[in-house]
Amino acid sequence: MRVRRCGSVMLEPRERLEFDLSALAAGGSGLVRVLEWVALAPHVAGEIILTPQESTVLGGLSPSTWIELDELARAHPRAVLDALAGKWLLVAEDSEAARRDQKLRDTHWRTPSAVMHYASRWTDVDTEDLQHDFAEMIGGRLIDRLGPPAPAVRERVPAAQRLRLPPKGDASPLDALLDGRVTCRNFDRMRKLSLDSFSAVLYRTYGARKVDETTLGIPLLKKGVPAAGALHATEAYLIAQHVEGVAPGLYHYHPVEHALEPMRRLDAAAIPALIKRLTAAQDYFADAHVVVIPTSRFLRNFWKYRNHAKAYRALILDVGHLSQVQYLAATELGLGAFVTAVINEIDIEREFGLDPLEEGPLAVCGFGHRAEVRNEAEFDPLNSVWAAESPGPR
Ligand SMILES: Cc1cc2nc3c(=O)[nH]c(=O)nc-3n(C[C@H](O)[C@H](O)[C@H](O)COP(=O)(O)O)c2cc1C
Repeated sequence: MRVRRCGSVMLEPRERLEFDLSALAAGGSGLVRVLEWVALAPHVAGEIILTPQESTVLGGLSPSTWIELDELARAHPRAVLDALAGKWLLVAEDSEAARRDQKLRDTHWRTPSAVMHYASRWTDVDTEDLQHDFAEMIGGRLIDRLGPPAPAVRERVPAAQRLRLPPKGDASPLDALLDGRVTCRNFDRMRKLSLDSFSAVLYRTYGARKVDETTLGIPLLKKGVPAAGALHATEAYLIAQHVEGVAPGLYHYHPVEHALEPMRRLDAAAIPALIKRLTAAQDYFADAHVVVIPTSRFLRNFWKYRNHAKAYRALILDVGHLSQVQYLAATELGLGAFVTAVINEIDIEREFGLDPLEEGPLAVCGFGHRAEVRNEAEFDPLNSVWAAESPGPR
C-alpha cells in the first residue's frame, strides 16, 4: 500500500483545562492543565489530537512522494504510522482520505486560509444559550464588566490641526438610502413580498448586467458589485417564503438568466425553524421573506489566485460587497435587510447538498417587509425607520 502525507495540515500546541477528581481530592481546585498537539487538516472534519511522537513523525513525511508503507516503516515506528493513517494525516492511495486530500490540492488553497475556513465552520451551534449566558454574565452592565472598548474614533492629530472638509452638501438619493439602511430583525410574516420586489433585489445584488467574452477569452460577468479578478465566485442560494408566485423552498439564483433554479420544495410551516437553525438560533431572522446565502466557489477564484495569500480574504470581501448592495437595494424598496456571520455552515451545506470542498457559505443575508412593531433590537439612532427610541444594537 502506497501512502503520503496529506497536502495541507497545521499543528497547534494547545493548553486546555480539564477537571480531575484526584486533583480535587489532593486539595486543589480539581482543574489540571493539559498540553497537547492539535492537527488542523482541512480535508478532515474536526480537530485531531496528536501525541508528541505522532507530530514529530508527521513532520518527517513527504506530502508529494507516494511510498510503500512497509518502506516507510523502516524509518518510523509502524504503530505511529498506523495511528497517523487512522487519523487521515497519512493517506493511502485510492482511499477516501486520499480523494478528499486530492480535491483540496486541486483547488489550490493556501494552507493557512484553508485551515481558517474549515476550522471555523459550525454545525448545530445554538447561540441562544450563549447569548443568554453572556447577558447573565454582563447583567446589563457591559462596560462595568468588560471595561471601556477601544475608542469609536482614532484621532491622530489635535483638533486644531484637522483640515475641515467642505460642507456635506444637499442630501442625495444615496444619502437617503444610507440613512435608511438599518439592520432588520423584525419581519412581517403576514405580508407577502411582491415578485417584482423580490426580483429587483436579487437582480441588483446578484444579477449579471453583461456577459463579456472578449476581455479574457472566457465568459466574464459584469455585475453591480466588484469581485476579485472579475471572477464573481459567489453563488446565491435562497430560502424563499411569503413571496408572491414563488413556492416555499430552496433555490439557486442564475445571475445571467435572472432566474430561480428550484432545488427543493419545503413545507412553509417548517421554514422559520430551518432559518433559525441555519443562523445558529437567531430566531429574529426566521420570518424573513427571503434568505440569501452567499456561497464562495473556491476553484473559480483560486484558478487564477493559486495558493495566493490574499485569495480567501478576497472571497470574504466579495461577500461584504454583496451584502451591502443587498441592504441598499432592499432599503430603496422600503424593505428591511440583514446580514449575519453567525451561521451553521455545515448544516447549510447539507440542506443545499453542497460539497464543502467545492463551495462554502460565508454569511447569511436576508430581506423582506419590516414588521410594524419593533420587538427585537434594531440600531436606529437617526430614527429613519422607527419613530421612538427602543432597544439598541445586538
Ligand atoms: C460581518 C457582519 C456580521 C454581522 N453579524 C450579525 C449577527 O450575527 N447577528 C445580528 O443580529 N446582526 C449581525 N450583524 C449586523 C450588525 O449587528 C449591525 O450592522 C450593527 O448592529 C449596526 O447596525 P446597522 O446595520 O443597523 O447600522 C452583522 C453585521 C456584519 C457587517
